[in-house]
Amino acid sequence: MSDTRPTYDFVIAANRLPVDRAEGENGTEWKRSPGGLVTAMDSVMRGRDGAWVGWSGEPGEAPEPFDDSGMHLHPVALSAEEVRDYYEGFSNDTLWPIYHDVIVPATFHRRWWAAYRTVNQRFAEELAKVAAEGATVWVHDYQLQLVPAMLRKIRPDVRIGWFNHIPFPPVELFAQLPWRGHLIGGLLGADFLGFQREDDAWNFQRACRQLEGYETEGDTIRVEGRTVRAAGLPISIDFADLESLARDPEVQKRAEEIRESFGNPQVLMLGVDRLDYTKGIRHRLKAYGELLRDGEFTPPDVALIQIAVPSRERVEAYKTLKDEIELTVGHINGDYSTVEATAVRYLHQSFDRAEMAAMYQAADIMLVTPLRDGMNLVAKEYVTCRIHDDGALVLSEFTGAATELGDAYIHNPHDIQGLKNRIVQAIKDSPEERTRRMKRLRDAVRSHDVQKWAGEFLDALQAVPSDEAQKAAG
Ligand code: G6P
Repeated sequence: MSDTRPTYDFVIAANRLPVDRAEGENGTEWKRSPGGLVTAMDSVMRGRDGAWVGWSGEPGEAPEPFDDSGMHLHPVALSAEEVRDYYEGFSNDTLWPIYHDVIVPATFHRRWWAAYRTVNQRFAEELAKVAAEGATVWVHDYQLQLVPAMLRKIRPDVRIGWFNHIPFPPVELFAQLPWRGHLIGGLLGADFLGFQREDDAWNFQRACRQLEGYETEGDTIRVEGRTVRAAGLPISIDFADLESLARDPEVQKRAEEIRESFGNPQVLMLGVDRLDYTKGIRHRLKAYGELLRDGEFTPPDVALIQIAVPSRERVEAYKTLKDEIELTVGHINGDYSTVEATAVRYLHQSFDRAEMAAMYQAADIMLVTPLRDGMNLVAKEYVTCRIHDDGALVLSEFTGAATELGDAYIHNPHDIQGLKNRIVQAIKDSPEERTRRMKRLRDAVRSHDVQKWAGEFLDALQAVPSDEAQKAAG
């Protein structure tokens, strides 16, 4: 690579670019990448003239840097073995289960760890090339926890932030990782570390103290004469942008069509998730199936749309989950659908933003039932699209979103009877009560949108004194 490549004052790194490369009928196509990270960071990056360093979603050589929607995208290559060992293996079969309460057991392989280190080093080197002198570099998520220290070593002039989009586990779970000290050391290369909840930041500080003997004070950690701050800063969505899409007459017409396609049921419920075991889809289907069995309601008066966006399909736990979900949907439909009406419409696909906005508008009840989730932006998207202040959000207490959205119908998804009761309550509450709750939910998202979150993160990052200032202060 020549030295004449442009450099940028603002650079972010995430495992994935905001678009995924796929070979389609018309050659190479770029599709929006799945997941909450891209939903949030896509709008933060627009208009900032920054660069985004990430993987293109396919194994093999990296495409040349290119521009998309006002962003400068810098692809990082992953070989087929690295996709298997760094991405599917260490990131999604070791770290993901540990960071999500070990809902499924974590797998430990030294080969996966070696690949994780190699790929993190590659990201750090690419960032070092793309970042201008004194740039702000913002690293994202659990796939890149070693990057902050690796980058600081090559480029001590840049300011480094890191944000964790998923939970940070209690020290008792984190301690299982044979490479825990390296992960902590990697993160402490940053100046500021952001977490979804205060509880996650505390978990991290405890891990630093108890496992590695670092000194902590308030939300700061002393690292070889430097101070690193670790704080809770809950992520959000672009409220104004999504709300204006929801107000589009075409979207509203589409919402009506969706309801009509079910014969205008009294209650249309919706679930929208990546097909992931953390999302509690099985618990949700169990509760729904039991409500049908109990005769609480019956199709065509009620229907459920379950969107399950394909995810990590080569990881064993995801394959098993897909089979279980599809079997359960089959049972429910076999037992409770009628010739005219389907009890569960299951869609193993992803949809564009306009179609999603229409579904959120069509749905009376939104079911968000994760067993553990860093934030859950689907919950925030649903309330944003409820422009008439109606509808009801049934929200698991184990999501980051529950901290801010206390006016939702909060439940523990492990308590199936409790979940059923919450769904029935959401249906039976008066329209006035649902509106009272929805107004407050919408206010919470409106007043803390993703732009505000990004501003707070970047302010906190700038506020940490530079290395020189810290050294001069002794
Ligand atoms: C979550 C993670 C992201 C990830 C996304 C999609 O939102 O926090 O880092 O990109 O899921 O998962 P995938 O493995 O397809 O990138």
